[in-house]
Amino acid sequence: MQLKDQSIVIIGGSSGIGLATAKLAKEYGANVTIAARTPEKLQKAAEVLGNVRTIVADISHEAQVKQIFQELDQVNHLFVAAGSLSTGRTETDGKIASTPLEELKHPITERVFGAIYAIRHALPKMSEGSITLMSGLFSTRPIPGVSVIAAAVAGIEAMARTLALELSPIRVNTVSPGYIDTPLLQAAFGDQYEQVIQAQAATLPTKKIGTAEETARAILFLMTNGFMNGEVLHIDGGGRFI
Ligand SMILES: NC(=O)c1ccc[n+]([C@@H]2O[C@H](COP(=O)([O-])OP(=O)(O)OC[C@H]3O[C@@H](n4cnc5c(N)ncnc54)[C@H](OP(=O)(O)O)[C@@H]3O)[C@@H](O)[C@H]2O)c1
Repeated sequence: MQLKDQSIVIIGGSSGIGLATAKLAKEYGANVTIAARTPEKLQKAAEVLGNVRTIVADISHEAQVKQIFQELDQVNHLFVAAGSLSTGRTETDGKIASTPLEELKHPITERVFGAIYAIRHALPKMSEGSITLMSGLFSTRPIPGVSVIAAAVAGIEAMARTLALELSPIRVNTVSPGYIDTPLLQAAFGDQYEQVIQAQAATLPTKKIGTAEETARAILFLMTNGFMNGEVLHIDGGGRFI
């Protein structure tokens, strides 16, 4: 891996897939910055990672995203992992007809504009290298109640393809995970987590759901393979075919 002494920024790096990517990148000798909203989670991640730059920032707010990059002279690779499944503000079902408009705007603000803020502030520090954006199974697998997240992640895939041309020679790719064992899924399914995960695993050709580390390996592949560009890399155990 050509990551030794490379500067890598991971937004959403304090947990799950982002944290696993930070860990692996550090094992390959990279200098890693992780950003996320919750200071305590960042602190815990820093204890796990050791020698990592942490910064509190909500990707939905441009001024906070700007701060992530301000102190960096150079960025070689940017990974935007940040994204939630809901705003956490109200107990709505996420459906278009019944969810307040402000909440429906949230996934677009967080996932699409968040990525745009990150890319715009990273670019002055990048001359080559890569940007990896986050999609997910909702881009191709419809489930009632997640239409706006689906629009956001499908939009991210389309945006990445365009940026792969526009930002040349910087490469831009998207990773699209299926079910991955992370705190996000644990929070989403609560008490039923084990049951849901076992049922999901049984339907997959792999007979298991993915791990954050397996996903991190896919992301490092996108970062380090100099001919990967404009791609959507699915890491879903073949789940999109069933
Ligand atoms: N796990 C899966 O099965 C799966 C499948 C497909 C796609 N994904 C996507 O992969 C990404 C990472 O998910 P994960 O499973 O690793 O979840 P996770 O363990 O909850 O990690 C999410 C990370 O992003 C941060 N984050 C969330 N919202 C943020 C915001 N607005 N601004 C800045 N940081 C933010 C979180 O920290 P704070 O909460 O402290 O900000 C945390 O560091 C998400 O976009 C998710 O939708 C996950």
